[in-house]
Amino acid sequence: MIGINESFLKLRAGYLFPEIGRRVRTFKQEHPSAKVISMGIGDVTQPLAPAVIEAMHRAVDEMGRQETFRGYDDTGVGYEFLRQAIIENDFGARGVPIDLEEVFVSDGTKSDTGNMQEIFGIENVVAVADPVYPVYVDTNVMAGRTGPAGSEGQFAGIVYMPATAENGFVPKPPDRPVDMIYLCFPNNPTGAVATKEDLARWVDFARTNQAVIFFDAAYEAYIKDAAIPHSIYEVEGAKEVAIEFRSCSKTAGFTGVRCAYSVVPKQLKAHAKGGRVVEVNPIWRRRHTTKFNGVSYVTQKGAEAVYSPQGKKQVQQTIDLYMANASLIRDTLTKVGYTVYGGLNAPYLWVKTPKGVGSWEFFDLLLNKANVVCTPGAGFGPAGEGYVRLTAFGLPQNVREALDRFARL
Ligand SMILES: Cc1ncc(COP(=O)(O)O)c(C=O)c1O
Repeated sequence: MIGINESFLKLRAGYLFPEIGRRVRTFKQEHPSAKVISMGIGDVTQPLAPAVIEAMHRAVDEMGRQETFRGYDDTGVGYEFLRQAIIENDFGARGVPIDLEEVFVSDGTKSDTGNMQEIFGIENVVAVADPVYPVYVDTNVMAGRTGPAGSEGQFAGIVYMPATAENGFVPKPPDRPVDMIYLCFPNNPTGAVATKEDLARWVDFARTNQAVIFFDAAYEAYIKDAAIPHSIYEVEGAKEVAIEFRSCSKTAGFTGVRCAYSVVPKQLKAHAKGGRVVEVNPIWRRRHTTKFNGVSYVTQKGAEAVYSPQGKKQVQQTIDLYMANASLIRDTLTKVGYTVYGGLNAPYLWVKTPKGVGSWEFFDLLLNKANVVCTPGAGFGPAGEGYVRLTAFGLPQNVREALDRFARL
């Protein structure tokens, strides 16, 4: 009989969101007239910017005419018009030189952060924060880079770095060498951001240990504080050790459209067996163009429009709307006595549960007493116990109503 890849059997069933769904469904069945509002939603709610829609309409029309029809994007890594807009606006404007060949356009940061591990050695030791965006861990489990899961859901062989209130939710580099380090700032789920000094410490560590940093900057557009770096490449020497991931999903409401990109610098090197040094960029190019056939022309035209003067203004208005939600959540809950982290430079808020009340217990309390859904922090890792995650992506009127009820708890 056909054998299965045993690594996949190590995965714990995607537990968090199905369990939330199950509890919410049960509650609604038992309380059909209750108006349940989700403050746990990780998806955006605002429509695409008009500049994006117009650009996509124009691109659709081009696809309908013989002279302007396009098939495959032969580069396989993104049309030059989009990569050019990316390097000028996301990096050039911040004084970071990025080459066209270093940018790889894709369908999402979920795929990119999940796939990138594939080109690195199976013996590499992986380090992640706890709590963590689960994709980094699960894709390494699938690849066979870990042992089995323990009772708290953590996998043998992975180095977990607790992100706690004490370290400002920015873990310090571990006291042992690791090879593949996943960092996410602004962070999902804690809403924490890393200062330039924090990132410099990581870059130093990676250089000393000849490690690679996977820097997930999917939420960089939410940074308001001018001192906080948007790119890890703002740190000297980072191009030698870091791959950066960006996405239009939360920046421009593309969660249902799908467009993102990775930056794989030419300076980044890895070792082959026997000590031979190899460049990572051409290996990723080979991987990406072999397994992926490009993002649609219509989508790439939409993404390009995010960088137009109108697009920038419109996208910023939407981000401002979400961040007004974040401020309201932070202020309201702080006023009624909760300790709230995040929400200043990120669309996520990390709320401490009352003393002695666990994440899931608080989830049930909030659902039953206020008919509000949150995400239990323990679902992102053991260090998330005692917290719940709220997001700023709701409709403003729903956020206000949910907060009224939350505050009266
Ligand atoms: C930290 C982080 N990275 C990546 C993603 C996924 O991004 P994309 O929609 O580009 O796949 C998410 C989405 O929730 C996320 O929270």
